[in-house]
Amino acid sequence: MRTLAKMDWDDLQSLAPLEKAECFNLGSQPFHVLMAQQFTRPLLEELGMMATRIRQIAKSKTGMDFLRSLLSHRTAMLYFSQPSTRTFLSFHSACQILGMKTVEVRDISTSSEMKGETQEDSIRTFSSFADIIIMRSAVGGLAEKMAWVLSNTERPIPIISAGSGKDQHPTQALLDIYTLQHSFETRGGIDHKKVVFVGDLARGRTVRSLAFLLTRYQGVKQYFIAPPPLQIKDDILDLLRKARIEFEVGSDFEKVIPAADAIYMTRIQDEWDENKGDSGKIDISKFGFTAEHLKLLQPHAVIMHPLPRRQEIAIAVDRDPRAVYWRQVRNGMWIRVALLAAIFECFDAIREFHAA
Ligand code: CP
Repeated sequence: MRTLAKMDWDDLQSLAPLEKAECFNLGSQPFHVLMAQQFTRPLLEELGMMATRIRQIAKSKTGMDFLRSLLSHRTAMLYFSQPSTRTFLSFHSACQILGMKTVEVRDISTSSEMKGETQEDSIRTFSSFADIIIMRSAVGGLAEKMAWVLSNTERPIPIISAGSGKDQHPTQALLDIYTLQHSFETRGGIDHKKVVFVGDLARGRTVRSLAFLLTRYQGVKQYFIAPPPLQIKDDILDLLRKARIEFEVGSDFEKVIPAADAIYMTRIQDEWDENKGDSGKIDISKFGFTAEHLKLLQPHAVIMHPLPRRQEIAIAVDRDPRAVYWRQVRNGMWIRVALLAAIFECFDAIREFHAA
C-alpha cells in the first residue's frame, strides 16, 4: 500500500486517479478526504448507514450527550478562503454534534498570508492547533498539496477538501449519494437509475465528484445537458468510458426529463469567467427547471441541486415533494458527522450505543 509519507510530490502527481486515491486512505477508511475516487461502494453504504444511525441517536438528549462525548478532546480547523454557506455551516455543525472545538480562518486578509507567509507554512501552523483541517480553496489541487506537506511532517493530521477549485467537491458528492440512497430506498437503490446533470458542467466541481461516485453503482446512466461552452469535460467522459458507464451528452433538456430518475441542476459558475461577463453571453434560457417541467417528470423522480441557486429552478418547484434540494442541505450535516466519525474511528462506539 502506498502512503504519502516519504513520497515525492512528482511521484504522487504521476499516479492515475485511483492509485492516488489509495494514498489518501488508511486501508479501507479515509484519512485525508480529497477526491471521490477514495470512496468504494461498501464505504458509501457504511457512511450512509452510519449517518442514519447518528441522526436517530441525535433525536434524544441522552443521544446528543453521547455524540458530544465522542470527540470532545479534538479540535477542527476550518480554513475557508473561498465563499461558502452550506459546507462551512454543515461542517461546523457536524463538529459541534461530535463535541469538537473549532477554530477558523475564513478571510485570508486577516491571516499572516497577507505578510507573505506561504500556504505550506500556514497549514503547518494550523496543524499546531488542530487535529484535522477542513479547507476550501479556489486553487485546484491545493488541498492535495497541503495533505502531502502535512503527511511529511511530524504532525500528519488529516485534511478534508470542502471544495477544491474547479476539480472536485468530494463531501458534496457524499451528501448527494446519501440523498439518492434515501430517495430510492424502496425502489432498488441507486443501481440502474438515470441521472441527468444540467447547467454549468464544465466548471461544476460537485458534478465532477458525483459523476465518479455514480460509477460505483451498477447500470447508472448519466446524461450531461448543457450549452456547448459549459459542457462536461473530456476527462470525466474518458473516466466513464473506462468504467464502461453509459452516458449521453446533449443540450435538449425537455427531451430527457421524462426518462430521469434524478435531475441534478447547477448554477452558472461565472466566478470562473476568464473575462468578466463571458458567461452572460451564453444562452442558458433552456437549462432551467420550471413548474411546467413538473408535469414531464416521473412520480418517483427527484430534483436535486447542490445550491446556491439563481434562476435555474423556479421557486414554485420547491413545494413539489420531488424537490429534495433542501433535504440535501440537512443530509450534508449528517453525512459529514459520519465522515468525521469514520476518520476518528468512532464507528464501533456509535454502533454499540445504537444497538443498546
Ligand atoms: N453546495 C455548496 O458547496 O454550497 P456552499 O458553497 O454554500 O458551501
